[in-house]
Amino acid sequence: MRVGLLTGGGDCPGLNAAIRAVVKHGEGTYGHSIIGFRNGWKGVVDGDVMPLGRPHIRNVLPMGGTLLGTARFHPNEENGGIDAVLATLEAERIEALICIGGDGTLHAASKVAEAGVRIVAIPKTIDNDVAGTDLSIGFHTAVNIATEAIDRVHTTAESHNRVMVVEVMGRHAGWIAVNAGMAGGAELVLAPEEPFDIDQVVKFLKHRHRAHASFSIVVVAEGASPREGGSMDYRTQLGKFGEIVAGAIGERLAHEIEQRTGFETRVTILGHVQRGGAPTPTDRILGSRFGVAAMDAIAAGTTGVMTALRGEHIELVPLSEVAGRVKHVPADMLRAAQVLA
Ligand code: F6P
Repeated sequence: MRVGLLTGGGDCPGLNAAIRAVVKHGEGTYGHSIIGFRNGWKGVVDGDVMPLGRPHIRNVLPMGGTLLGTARFHPNEENGGIDAVLATLEAERIEALICIGGDGTLHAASKVAEAGVRIVAIPKTIDNDVAGTDLSIGFHTAVNIATEAIDRVHTTAESHNRVMVVEVMGRHAGWIAVNAGMAGGAELVLAPEEPFDIDQVVKFLKHRHRAHASFSIVVVAEGASPREGGSMDYRTQLGKFGEIVAGAIGERLAHEIEQRTGFETRVTILGHVQRGGAPTPTDRILGSRFGVAAMDAIAAGTTGVMTALRGEHIELVPLSEVAGRVKHVPADMLRAAQVLA
């Protein structure tokens, strides 16, 4: 059988582990041929293919990024995009397609599956906001990177008696902010799930600095925003694909804090550092398990599903239950991060 494989959307550590598992298990166990599409759905539309065999996956397990390349391209949003996808798949005699991606890629995958293509998806995004799975590839590494960064910011904050604002990724959900914020001992964690009140932020910082501290760490997710009707007027700034303009909320928040408290304040924007470099063992293992499960699902003739971590097990969930939905940080977890100031 000829099985297509693509990685779409933003890259992240752990993608190569999934690619490697698909190739090893697909070739080794089932005798399939794996055909890679370069740069996500764009490669399918353009017919940009590469053979994927054992030589291509040698030594890729510890490598960040994706050996297939990726792009933010959604065929379901382009005129004739789905038809172009179908034409390429027919020309390449692809019988099934494995799509590794986040919300945009999975949404496109569900549309292509509806058009009759046999599809199995694998969730990845450092934001960890794909519904239906406990974890997505890349999240664990991003939390590690962000935690280490907060630890480093901590010592300089303390030395200089400053407020340090650390902006982390997380468009719709504050998974990185909450996890890295808690692990790094941040004083405040601001997430998209709960619009913040700048007056409360200022009150908290003033009280803390009056009572027992001379520095504070504020972790803010890029998608966090002040509450409507509050004294800080701010609109989240979005790019073409709904990605958030990096640094916008971090810079603004640092400015507001400094102006309103009089405390010297600095901002650190972690940005794409969170998406780069070697994956943690957890992400290598998750990518590998998802790759094996996706190939098994293909072999079993399953379609329109996504591999998902549920507790200890990898399960298959219908793409229709996942696409277009956001997995938010639960309120109890958010609260735990907030009360540990
Ligand atoms: O979707 C993951 C993500 O890392 C978001 O947190 C961020 O807003 C976006 O990608 C950045 O996208 P780009 O790499 O296109 O700038």
